[in-house]
Amino acid sequence: MSPAPSHRGFHHRRANGVALLVAVATSWLSGCNLGQREMEDTTPHGCAECHVDITHQWQQSAHSIAWLSPEFTELTDQHREESCLPCHAPRPLLEQAPGSEPQLRDSHRQFGVDCNVCHQIGCGYAGPYRNLIQAHPTIQDTTRLPCSDFCGSCHRMEHEQYVEQYLSTTSEPANSCSGCHMPAYRSRLTQDHLLSYIHPKRIVRDHSFPVWDDRVSGGAIELSARDASWPEPQTVQVRVTLVNRGAGHSIPVGEFGHRELNIRAEVRRADGSVLGEREHVVLADSHDCLRPHAPVEYVLDVPVADAAAASKVRVTVERVDPDGDVLYRFVDNVWSAPAPP
Ligand code: HEC
Ligand code: HEC
Ligand code: HEC
Ligand code: HEC
Ligand code: HEC
Repeated sequence: MSPAPSHRGFHHRRANGVALLVAVATSWLSGCNLGQREMEDTTPHGCAECHVDITHQWQQSAHSIAWLSPEFTELTDQHREESCLPCHAPRPLLEQAPGSEPQLRDSHRQFGVDCNVCHQIGCGYAGPYRNLIQAHPTIQDTTRLPCSDFCGSCHRMEHEQYVEQYLSTTSEPANSCSGCHMPAYRSRLTQDHLLSYIHPKRIVRDHSFPVWDDRVSGGAIELSARDASWPEPQTVQVRVTLVNRGAGHSIPVGEFGHRELNIRAEVRRADGSVLGEREHVVLADSHDCLRPHAPVEYVLDVPVADAAAASKVRVTVERVDPDGDVLYRFVDNVWSAPAPP
């Protein structure tokens, strides 16, 4: 980007009459030539000069690896599968009409879903605030970026379920995608920078786009009923009813990759050792996945050879990755086993 926009921006604001602050700011600015040198790099490396925390969070997010992840590289035959590419490294979405298809960009694809995809409009950046002093033009946007339709340009399955299953069943004020996946905290938008000191603390959104974090997933699945019985001498039948209380779409969800919810029942001896166990796997497109607010009963028949030794029943509900490692444990519940037949 050329340095011109920030200069234009400052003259414009002076004309707006915010004289004192701007006079202070411009003298600092001309002194260190701020804005010109730093805004030459409009990749996330450039943003990191000032938005230190936000860029660091974004680097830890799935969005930053959307292009370079080994899975994506392999599944697209080294980025040759053209139909797969646009959502993983598109041009700035706010420069397009709402609802239009993401378009593959020509350069800097390695940054995947980068800052510009969500914020850039021409030489400015859209955000929640009306700014007076900044290093680059900003555009206050309260109608597109904060709304779930925006995320839905790429997250089609989540968005479709959000509209059809969540909005239609929620009575309390509904959260948007970013309301859940970008938890808010109070801080400055920039760090280690002259401009950081003249800006107040504001509400900032966590750009690591967390999922399996207590702020997002805590209490998302409720165990609303549990029961165990002996339908046969060597089987404990465990029935659990689960309710999706905390996601704005089904659990699990996702069009791509392996999304597994693992429901597991164990029957244990008094010393805690396992007598018998049974697992039930729910995938993103399973008929029995957890739709928002809709109770689902799962029945697990646990084989138990030594009925007399049965003491406790334990149920866990976890999201696991393709290697079986736990991403998040939603439920871990233990109760007394029913008396054997
Ligand atoms: C409409 C936009 C869009 C298109 C087109 C698209 N993707 Fe994605 N992709 C996404 C989104 C959104 C996610 C993250 C959520 C999800 O998995 O549904 C994702 C996630 C992924 C992941 C990561 C899964 C994981 O395990 O974390 C892989 C791999 C992937 N896509 C491969 C592909 C391939 C291969 C194609 C072409 C067949 C493709 N994508 C086309 C939007 C898209
Ligand atoms: C030279 C420092 C600097 C650089 C580099 C920089 N910014 Fe900023 N940015 C600021 C300042 C200062 C603000 C206003 C802070 C405030 O209002 O508290 C700001 C505000 C923003 C906002 C909020 C807009 C609003 O009105 O709500 C967005 C979005 C933004 N920047 C995106 C970016 C992106 C994307 C990049 C990289 C392409 C970038 N910035 C590079 C200093 C910088
Ligand atoms: C330009 C397309 C695009 C847009 C717009 C977009 N995403 Fe994504 N998102 C992706 C892709 C692609 C991935 C998967 C990247 C990967 O895993 O390789 C992803 C991953 C995620 C994940 C992580 C899932 C996981 O398994 O860890 C979350 C959460 C998420 N996005 C939320 C959002 C929210 C909230 C918004 C709106 C503020 C949004 N996304 C906007 C393309 C997009
Ligand atoms: C997938 C979309 C997406 C990506 C990628 C993204 N942001 Fe944001 N950003 C948002 C959303 C959504 C908000 C909150 C908007 C609102 O609440 O009105 C936001 C807010 C901001 C703000 C205002 C303060 C705050 O947190 O509300 C700044 C500054 C900002 N982003 C900078 C960046 C920078 C720098 C990058 C790249 C390192 C980046 N963003 C990447 C979607 C994104
Ligand atoms: C009410 C809070 C809430 C809302 C609203 C919400 N989500 Fe989620 N989301 C969650 C929770 C909780 C999980 C974890 C559940 C799970 O493990 O599948 C999750 C999981 C995800 C995942 C991870 C899928 C995976 O398995 O990797 C993606 C991607 C995602 N959400 C995107 C979105 C998008 C896009 C929207 C808006 C259309 C949205 N979410 C709305 C709470 C929410």
